[in-house]
Amino acid sequence: MSISFKLNKRSLLCTALMAATFALPGMALAQAPIVIKFSHVVADKTPKGQGALKFKELAEQKLPGKVQVQVFPSSQLFGDAKELEALLLGDVQLIAPSLSKFDRYTKKIQVFDLPFLFDDLAAVDRFQSSATGQGLLKAMTNRGLLGLAYWHNGMKQLSTNKDKLARPDDVKGLKFRIQPSDVLEAQFRALNSNPQKMAFAEVYQALQTGVVDGQENTWSNIYSQKFHEVQKTIAETNHGLIDYMVVTNAKWWDGLPADVRKGLSEAMAEATAYANKLASDINDGDKKKIADAGKAKIQSLSKDDTAAWRKAMEPVWKKFEGDIGRDLIDAALKSNQ
Ligand code: LMR
Repeated sequence: MSISFKLNKRSLLCTALMAATFALPGMALAQAPIVIKFSHVVADKTPKGQGALKFKELAEQKLPGKVQVQVFPSSQLFGDAKELEALLLGDVQLIAPSLSKFDRYTKKIQVFDLPFLFDDLAAVDRFQSSATGQGLLKAMTNRGLLGLAYWHNGMKQLSTNKDKLARPDDVKGLKFRIQPSDVLEAQFRALNSNPQKMAFAEVYQALQTGVVDGQENTWSNIYSQKFHEVQKTIAETNHGLIDYMVVTNAKWWDGLPADVRKGLSEAMAEATAYANKLASDINDGDKKKIADAGKAKIQSLSKDDTAAWRKAMEPVWKKFEGDIGRDLIDAALKSNQ
């Protein structure tokens, strides 16, 4: 009697333990939301920062309990030098590097770095939404990267620690921080200055301590990083573009449940429209704040000045035409009309 009682007790215990071992993890998996880490290098109050927060809000609204989006701004997790690697390793699921940061993965995206290619952001928009532009979102799938959207920041301005900055001669011999792009390197060499590739998070200190004399960036990045406090002049060159590609790990994306992928795609499309509408206003507002702060002088340029910058940077086009492809350059140029 007592033996059979003991056996029953033991088998009950075994059953309970087996249930706990096998059922609990399964149940936990079914309930736990998919955690999506979105890492980027700029501040929350920038076009990209706002886009990432909007995406979080929309994704969690559309997929309640199914996804949790964690946004890490301002290089909190790691800087721009590491983020593509981290995405491929599965440490994060979304990043949005500037289009200047992909040249290790495809030469085609270098088209966006050609100086004076786009007349304005409307032209950029037309190119990005064209079949050719949309095709570039898939240009890196063979490297495991899938582009989900383009996000705008805006046109680049040039800044230095010198009083005079109106013509290409004014930057001769100066050291400039650049993003890791061979096109941008060639652009500064064409100006007879010295480019230095550097992570975004290190730029303020490099400008402050004189490791570099200048940099190129959008009004929103200049203002949010306080570059205007450690530069003397910002010339309104509008000579190039900083826009982003939101990219994910293709394998991770393809492995998501279909309903989750659909919800995330919708959230991405809506967040893209939201952020792209905001970008110009944020940049205009930040330009005004820089002017009001009265620290760096804003140098406006005459038509002749701009023509001189354009001419000085022209050799870059020829140098990269082979890598990028003439057809792609022509397709981008067409968007100016
Ligand atoms: C930069 O490195 O200057 C920019 O690409 C930073 C950013 O993400 O806007």
